[in-house]
Amino acid sequence: MDIIYPWLEEVDALILASPVYFYGLTAQVKAMIDRCQVFWNRSWKDPVKEDNAKKRGALIAVGATRGSKLFEGAILTSKYFFKALGMSYCRELLVRGVEAWGAVREHPEALIAAQNLGRELVFNRCHS
Ligand SMILES: Cc1cc2nc3c(=O)[nH]c(=O)nc-3n(C[C@H](O)[C@H](O)[C@H](O)COP(=O)(O)O)c2cc1C
Repeated sequence: MDIIYPWLEEVDALILASPVYFYGLTAQVKAMIDRCQVFWNRSWKDPVKEDNAKKRGALIAVGATRGSKLFEGAILTSKYFFKALGMSYCRELLVRGVEAWGAVREHPEALIAAQNLGRELVFNRCHS
């Protein structure tokens, strides 16, 4: 986190990416998010500056199955992660039916959508 904290404070846009494990983000991603409680605590004392609110975050998640609620946990956690950072949540890119390593390459439309999401974030065209 000593490496990640300054980076989280400096970025203008951030994509959080994770596969779904047991209907949530992976433990590794969640552990990083949990260490961001410090930003949430700080925001009570030092309300988010206008500049920070212009920073944008988005979620990319994949899962093997196709259930309608597959990404609900990941989305909710991600929204509060970006809120803790004082960033506005842009939107999510969700890809179902991705299981084996590298299987996302069989979803060219998802790869294009990921590129578009990156562009939207960089050019500030992303609105929640
Ligand atoms: C521990 C574990 C839990 C998983 N839980 C779910 C799940 O709840 N729903 C689902 O659709 N896929 C689930 N999957 C499938 C993964 O989302 C999918 O295989 C993903 O592509 C794995 O990415 P990775 O190879 O980077 O771990 C799970 C996979 C693992 C290993």
